[in-house]
Amino acid sequence: MATARVVLIAGLLLTYALAAAAQEGGCVSCHETHFTREGRCASCHRGDPQAVRETLAHHGLLRGPAAAWRMPGSPILTRGRAMRDSLGCRRCHTTGGRGERLAIDLDTAVWERSQTQLRDALQKPAASMPDFALTTAQCDTLAALLLHDGDPHPAQETYQVRFQHTASDTVPVFTRLCGDCHRALGRGGPMGSGRDGPDLSGLTGEFYPVPIDARWDAERLEKWLANPRSLRPATTMPPVRVNRGELQAILRELSGLPAR
Ligand code: HEC
Ligand code: HEC
Ligand code: HEC
Ligand code: HEC
Repeated sequence: MATARVVLIAGLLLTYALAAAAQEGGCVSCHETHFTREGRCASCHRGDPQAVRETLAHHGLLRGPAAAWRMPGSPILTRGRAMRDSLGCRRCHTTGGRGERLAIDLDTAVWERSQTQLRDALQKPAASMPDFALTTAQCDTLAALLLHDGDPHPAQETYQVRFQHTASDTVPVFTRLCGDCHRALGRGGPMGSGRDGPDLSGLTGEFYPVPIDARWDAERLEKWLANPRSLRPATTMPPVRVNRGELQAILRELSGLPAR
């Protein structure tokens, strides 16, 4: 009787072990295991765990730091958040449900892109997106965060970018006075063509990367334009003469699109 029970238990254990191995399948036939308590290989890396051929097994694979997207406490996600905020992704994009609506909604877009497409989007950015000169590892770190915050099965885009054209379609004041050195996406679309100074999209908004005690409001901008060195002694920006009307126009042009 006792022997039968031992055989039964051994049998169950073996079946369980085989089933577990079958679920990891091809991955563990070629790779060491890790993070076994956090989930299955494919739950973090994607890919096809049933496949035994490498190319098939690696279909849609997430490599490197990007695989940390479903490890909530991971330092990789913490680093990704710090990069998102210091580079100011949200002054143009919505991600994790927050941000300006001046460029594509990343929450609905990221899961539809391959890892290579995400790297390319950051390393060979679109015309109105700044080039942050990111390494591949930095791209993958950001990708982990975008995937973590994004919707894997988006029903539809939560918004579409619709720039508001001015009635007269005149050249924006920003383009005229700042555009030789700066660029910005504003409510009327892309402005300026310069690269000497930083991209000023969302300058006065919630997501422009600044130290917490130094938001860019009308007063600070006026002071800066009159004499940049009064705020930053080592700055290379020369003073720019603007009148009250022009300053107001620039602030308006730089403000984001209103929420729906
Ligand atoms: C037939 C063997 C084979 C199978 C099956 C296989 N891999 Fe791989 N895998 C490799 C080889 C060889 C490399 C290194 C070459 C490369 O980077 O493509 C690799 C690379 C990787 C890397 C990237 C390592 C790096 O340093 O960039 C990850 C992650 C990975 N595999 C995960 C998986 C997962 C998850 C599965 C199952 C869904 C899987 N692999 C199935 C052979 C395999
Ligand atoms: C909980 C998520 C998670 C699970 C589960 C997981 N991985 Fe990973 N894996 C990662 C992360 C994150 C990295 C990258 C770490 C880094 O680059 O800092 C990684 C790295 C790798 C690498 C690259 C090795 C290297 O150079 O670091 C391979 C290969 C790999 N994993 C295979 C597997 C296999 C096979 C399994 C299943 C047994 C698996 N992983 C399960 C998250 C996971
Ligand atoms: C100045 C505005 C701006 C900033 C800042 C910005 N982007 Fe973009 N981004 C764009 C524009 C414009 C596009 C092209 C798509 C579009 O027209 O909406 C784009 C495209 C992308 C795409 C590709 C989407 C696709 O269609 O495949 C990704 C991914 C992306 N951005 C991520 C980021 C990340 C991550 C950051 C922060 C590091 C960032 N962006 C910062 C403006 C910006
Ligand atoms: C001749 C070139 C030039 C012109 C014209 C110019 N800027 Fe600049 N601007 C720069 C440079 C270069 C910097 C970077 C300086 C630095 O980092 O200290 C800068 C920095 C700034 C900053 C600081 C941004 C930050 O993130 O720290 C603001 C704000 C700014 N400019 C606003 C404007 C506005 C508004 C105009 C138009 C009224 C304008 N600038 C015209 C060259 C210019």
